[in-house]
Amino acid sequence: MNGLFRPYDREVVLAELSGKSRSALGRLELPGTVDSTNLEVLRLPDDQQHGSAIIADCQSAGRGRRGRKWHSPAGCNIYLSLGWNFADPTSSLGHLPLAVAVMLTRALARGGLESAGIKWPNDILADGRKLAGVLIELHPCGGEKTLAVIGTGINVRMPPGEANRADIGQAWTDVSSQLPAPAPPDFRDRLAGMVLDELVQGIMVFAASGFEFFAADWAKRDALSGKEVTVSGTSESLEGQADGIGESGGLLVRLREPSGALRVQEFFAGEVSVRQPEN
Ligand code: BTN
Repeated sequence: MNGLFRPYDREVVLAELSGKSRSALGRLELPGTVDSTNLEVLRLPDDQQHGSAIIADCQSAGRGRRGRKWHSPAGCNIYLSLGWNFADPTSSLGHLPLAVAVMLTRALARGGLESAGIKWPNDILADGRKLAGVLIELHPCGGEKTLAVIGTGINVRMPPGEANRADIGQAWTDVSSQLPAPAPPDFRDRLAGMVLDELVQGIMVFAASGFEFFAADWAKRDALSGKEVTVSGTSESLEGQADGIGESGGLLVRLREPSGALRVQEFFAGEVSVRQPEN
């Protein structure tokens, strides 16, 4: 075996979906190579975007957050996007990225990886290294409605030759190396089904009741809590201690003023990195 997964088997993916998820699912497409699954959802006819999922084997122009590329080789990882119409304006969906991160950790736990953490806002980590990322693109549809295209890339089994790719640009890991036993040949299909199931069910709950149902799991999975962090990419680089999330879903950081006093600031943008303790 060359270490690659075989093409997706629709029935294996669908077998992981609950009755509720199946009835809410629109189209499910499992293409070989696309440029970006998020773009593919946008290319669906307007009346077919809601509830439709695209899960590709490979992306030729996978997109990451902050304008980055998402390295998307064939036969090894999950590249999944789901379209969802919310009856809310984009301004009311600030907690959606956080809720989606919780949904992903639930799916990973179902797949056997219990220990995944969340780095605000929605990077999924294992062992302090990036395992999965989320790119949510919000498109206002008029009349206070929003189409959300929720995309996730999950490293399932990155081939050894990809290990040193410069465009990954950060410490990463994959699900199969975090599992205690070797992953079976249909593992990627099953995990993709679990992810889709958790997303569809979770988003229905989020649309009806907001973040409340996800807050406790978020706090349990918060990989930054209590860590010394640097927040950069805004007007200045600031250092402090991460302290959970605020009411509006931003990252709370305890900053020390030059006077020595502590002040808590909520960040909604910027790049967060954990500072290593000095020896
Ligand atoms: C990040 O930068 O952490 C977010 C990465 C999101 C990648 C996924 S892969 C499926 C979907 N299609 C894309 O082009 N990007 C997202």
